[in-house]
Amino acid sequence: MENNELQVGTRATSKPSGLEGVVVAETKLSHVDGERGELIIAGTHAEALVDHADFEAVTARLLELATSAPQPNLRTQLAQARAAAFATVPALRDSLALPDAMDALLAAIARARSGRDALSVLGALPVYVAAGERLRQGLPPIAPTPGLRHAEDFLTMLGLPADAPRAKALDVYLVTVSDHSLNASTFAARVVASTGSDVVSSVAAALGALKGPLHGGAPGPVLDMLDATLATDPRAWLEREIAAGRRIMGMGHRIYRVRDPRAYVFERALSRLEPEMAADPRASQAIMARLAHARRVEHSAEKLLAERHPDRPLRANVEFYTAVLLEALGIPRTLFTPTFAIGRCAGWLAHIEEQRRTGKLIRPAARYIGPLPA
Ligand code: COA
Repeated sequence: MENNELQVGTRATSKPSGLEGVVVAETKLSHVDGERGELIIAGTHAEALVDHADFEAVTARLLELATSAPQPNLRTQLAQARAAAFATVPALRDSLALPDAMDALLAAIARARSGRDALSVLGALPVYVAAGERLRQGLPPIAPTPGLRHAEDFLTMLGLPADAPRAKALDVYLVTVSDHSLNASTFAARVVASTGSDVVSSVAAALGALKGPLHGGAPGPVLDMLDATLATDPRAWLEREIAAGRRIMGMGHRIYRVRDPRAYVFERALSRLEPEMAADPRASQAIMARLAHARRVEHSAEKLLAERHPDRPLRANVEFYTAVLLEALGIPRTLFTPTFAIGRCAGWLAHIEEQRRTGKLIRPAARYIGPLPA
């Protein structure tokens, strides 16, 4: 059997592999080289992309690659979509205020009447995440500001400082996570799109997949781990976690066998943020202290996992430094996964368009191991 083919039908003997290494789509959108630690998004290495394109530009490029149609007005359309979504907030209050921010997002986009096309959904996500958080805090939602970019507007709607360095750091985050080949949530979106279903349903499926701790749900627990290891030896704490049968969050990856390149991008963003925050020395010191502690815990975890799994490199993944970066921006840990969704939605939408153009239903096979009729 070829490595990239699944044996199909009831006689197949292959073991379920979580589809590891199985090619189920062709894409022009992004490429991951797990051995070399390379991530190419819309034709550019992620490390370089963050320096010369913002989230809007990258989204436009991804959609253009998927549809072959230029997207000249995306920045304006996205701002209009945020404004339109905000107008629906009063009608969605009970959904937006649900205790779990991902559940709230799912419920709100399913009920929204502000438009069900790609850019309406993309524009709605930061509005609903921010409004939901404000409502949960007993505060009034803050309207989007015309003229702001996606990242800056999200911070503003959350009521957080949104100066240029912080807005840039969040923009770097959104660009870096905008697409990542056929990850679980993108695959979920493509499966739903392949049935001919609509954009909202495809994005809802992706949100559901992203919520899981093995995918986008890890950064909150990473921060819990950093807190838990502050006053103790990280190695001893990590050993207890492993002994209890739990995984170390933010470590390991399905594709990368080296350190996730996005971890370097976020570390660099944090290092750049710190001197820019000279006016706020306490915040700046807190960031550097957190970063130093995160590196200590990462090294302990890497060493421990290398001892346990000498044949399987388990290094820091995107979620490890996501936690540190988003915390430095003041984003509450309960919003880490929804913030991931705001960035990754760009990739989902482009993949949905790409999948639709194939006209092919995604429908794999299962090996039957159940009882046979008497
Ligand atoms: N901590 C402890 N052990 C880990 C681990 C982690 N973070 N990640 C993988 N392993 C171990 C598994 O227990 C397994 O051990 P075994 O062979 O003795 O059973 C082995 O490494 C291979 O793991 P597997 O689950 O088959 O790899 P995968 O490619 O399916 O999983 C992840 C990839 C990301 C799901 C996995 O590394 C993980 O759970 N990481 C923690 C969650 C996380 O950070 N998620 C965000 C991903 S971006």
